[in-house]
Amino acid sequence: MKPNHIAIIMDGNGRWATSHNKSRKFGHKRGAKSARDIVRYTGMLGIKYLTLYAFSTENWGRPLKEVDLLMTLFVETLDSEIEDLNDNNVRVIFIGDRSGLTKSLIDKIDKAELLTKDNQGLNLTVALAYGGRWDIINATRLILDKIQNNELNHSDIDEDQLSSLMQLGSKPDPDLLIRTGGEKRISNFLLWNIAYTELYFCESLWPDFNHSDLDIAIEFYTERKRRYGKNV
Ligand code: IPE
Ligand code: IPE
Ligand code: MG
Repeated sequence: MKPNHIAIIMDGNGRWATSHNKSRKFGHKRGAKSARDIVRYTGMLGIKYLTLYAFSTENWGRPLKEVDLLMTLFVETLDSEIEDLNDNNVRVIFIGDRSGLTKSLIDKIDKAELLTKDNQGLNLTVALAYGGRWDIINATRLILDKIQNNELNHSDIDEDQLSSLMQLGSKPDPDLLIRTGGEKRISNFLLWNIAYTELYFCESLWPDFNHSDLDIAIEFYTERKRRYGKNV
């Protein structure tokens, strides 16, 4: 069966740029192009959920110039893509800590979410200024608020309760997590939600990741036998 929810760590823009003698900015631009293409293709394949890791909590620690150009690129990409995404029935949602984002980016995010909120096609989640640890801490704070307001008791806290307060909320856990760029690590992506996700690491740098790479990743997934700790 094909995956219902694919999550992707889109890594390798910088190395792609270096190997083509281009600036990192150019690499990130090509990365945005790749994301656009893979979103379209995923929708065409009938995959229901796609979650893309665009910027991590730790990416704030990059040189200011690179952070600024990435933030500008997010604004520009939202501007140029949102109508098309909407026309293609894509619902767009952003997850992450918005406190460090500029007002103009937050406004675009709000507008994009509002515009696409009733769309029934691909459910696209963009993780921006997101960290798996931050997500867990944020959910813990929300739980404490609920306890303080007498909306929740200790004994009510279970997996479903915590899941509902995590950033992906009621969305199903990813079935397949793809990381491009050759590194075999999670880099603080969806820590809570990937407990039983199938992991696929590929060498292609994100700007080179194409339809056939995605087909191969999906093929890898269809060959997995998921046991969830059971022995059948
Ligand atoms: C991924 O590409 C994009 C972001 C993390 C924002 P990188 O910029 O990490 O590219 P490499 O890993 O340096 O090649
Ligand atoms: C992970 O890539 C974050 C995103 C793709 C947004 P990084 O390039 O930041 O990860 P590390 O530093 O190699 O672990
Ligand atoms: Mg990287």
